[in-house]
Amino acid sequence: MATHLLDVPLDALRRDRTSIKWRRYPADVLPLWIAEMDTRPCPAVVDAVTAAMTRGDTGYAGDEGYAAALAELAEAEWAWSTDPAAMVRVTDVLTGVAHLLRLLTDVHGPVVVSPPVYNAFYDVIASIDRRVVEAPLTADARLDLDLLDATFAEVTAGGGRAAYLLSNPHNPTGTVHSAAELEGLAAVAERHGVRVLSDEIHAPLVFAPHRFTPYLTVPGSERGITVTSASKAWNLAGLKAALVVPGEDARVDVARLHPFVTFGASHFGVIAQTAAYRHGREWVRDLVVELDANRTLLDELVRKHLSGASLLVPDSTYLAWLDLRPLGLGDHPAATLLERGRVAVSEGTMFGSAGAGHVRVNFATSPDVLREAVARIAGCLG
Ligand SMILES: Cc1ncc(COP(=O)(O)O)c(C=O)c1O
Repeated sequence: MATHLLDVPLDALRRDRTSIKWRRYPADVLPLWIAEMDTRPCPAVVDAVTAAMTRGDTGYAGDEGYAAALAELAEAEWAWSTDPAAMVRVTDVLTGVAHLLRLLTDVHGPVVVSPPVYNAFYDVIASIDRRVVEAPLTADARLDLDLLDATFAEVTAGGGRAAYLLSNPHNPTGTVHSAAELEGLAAVAERHGVRVLSDEIHAPLVFAPHRFTPYLTVPGSERGITVTSASKAWNLAGLKAALVVPGEDARVDVARLHPFVTFGASHFGVIAQTAAYRHGREWVRDLVVELDANRTLLDELVRKHLSGASLLVPDSTYLAWLDLRPLGLGDHPAATLLERGRVAVSEGTMFGSAGAGHVRVNFATSPDVLREAVARIAGCLG
């Protein structure tokens, strides 16, 4: 492998990383939980942020070409032609989602999600007094279009407004929704007047031969809205700035976001995320090669040392959904693994009703840490 982005030694990570991933638990715990990567940083981002700091460019965000950078990348990588003039900036993806859901649904109104799904979707919906309605993925972690059709019919039966919050690609299963599935989603959503919000933060992290499809490229998606940033793929969660991209027929909705909301992105976030989209494409390609090797390693380790467990090998992201139910660790295995094995993984129940007995493993770390983590999990069994 040509590059070494994920080989930062464990002692250096423990010493140098002060983010929540590394500081929530005591030093003897291996942290494979929250979606931060242990990667070395992207040099283009380091240069851009360092230069801004050095020249004292530390004010509020101006126009740094963030939207144009996303539009260029989207055209080049996914053949998605999108108008930067229609995009607006927000603090981060979840803040954007929260404010859009406020505009598109009513208090206590339904927001449909497909579990197992990103745990913070539940939090963001609760935080704005909306109601989560679950339409789970199928057993093989695909969108269940018949169930979505029935659920959308049910939640709109009384005439109220409803939204569907999509993770595209899907955290925590790594499902890369196909163009046909997304077209099917758009059709059922339109049939029932349900608004689709597509969270595409993991889009650059797709493993070949799978291909990412932007929701707004499929027919029928014109009333959809995408929210995204470079934050997951370039590991920039600390540098907040995200983009809201309206479908052709959703511009009027996005224009209703209050200027207070669209003023929320940090200048350093904008500088960092713009540099990532503009100059970090090679870097993310190298990273995806290393992540691909890690997902294969994790699969091998699980087969060898955790007999009975099953790993859903993801087609994208650096998150893997691990079914530990046959191993007798109960409905909340992450708590046991933390206590007995000193490994922090995310508890499956946080990802919805389908998650009992599962954990989510963050494999964006060094192969050595992955080996040690699986050895520790194996040590908790029997
Ligand atoms: C699907 C998804 N959306 C959003 C986020 C968080 O994005 P932000 O920090 O920009 O709100 C994450 C973080 O893991 C995620 O996995």
